[in-house]
Amino acid sequence: MKRIKAIYPGSFDPPTNGHLDLIERGSKIFDELVVAILRNPEKDPLFSVADRRKMLEAMTSGFDNVSVDTFDGLTVDYALRVEARAILRGIRAISDYEYELQMALMNRKLQPGLETVFMMPAEKYSYLSSRLVREVAQLGGSIECLVPDLVEQKLREKIDVAHKFANREQSAGKTPSEGKSKFRKKKL
Ligand code: PNS
Repeated sequence: MKRIKAIYPGSFDPPTNGHLDLIERGSKIFDELVVAILRNPEKDPLFSVADRRKMLEAMTSGFDNVSVDTFDGLTVDYALRVEARAILRGIRAISDYEYELQMALMNRKLQPGLETVFMMPAEKYSYLSSRLVREVAQLGGSIECLVPDLVEQKLREKIDVAHKFANREQSAGKTPSEGKSKFRKKKL
């Protein structure tokens, strides 16, 4: 019987419990699952690709058939390179559907042999996104139960560094807009 390998591409900035939920579901239906982090030079991520990789590797260490990789360029080209037959994507709500449908159909046009498989995370994660996690964490809200402990810790470290940086700038008489802190620069 043919083994089915799938990739789960995304930004994972940062990875959340919703991502982990999907990885667990994917690991049960695919023989092999590669969590593939997009290296996107145009984006200004909160976490470096190396940091995201480390977090995802730690999060997925308990799954025998899951690995973590990075890629750039087209997702379909990467999928072909690693001999995957499917692209796994999560759909949380109807609002995700339009964008995901467009991507799936474009990917099908580019590579008709590759299937996109949509899975739904647990309901308790249906409102969860990396963007909201970043925003809530940056504004001092609790992100407990939304991300693994390791990710929460890394977020807190980032925020502490950003606050120290902002305080230093303020003491040096700079206005916040002059600063280079990612937390101010980042579009939420
Ligand atoms: O986690 P995200 O940001 O929703 O993931 C989006 C991602 C990485 C899957 C998408 O942007 C992507 O596939 N980018 C790679 C470039 C590409 O293949 N573009 C055409 C998509 S139809």
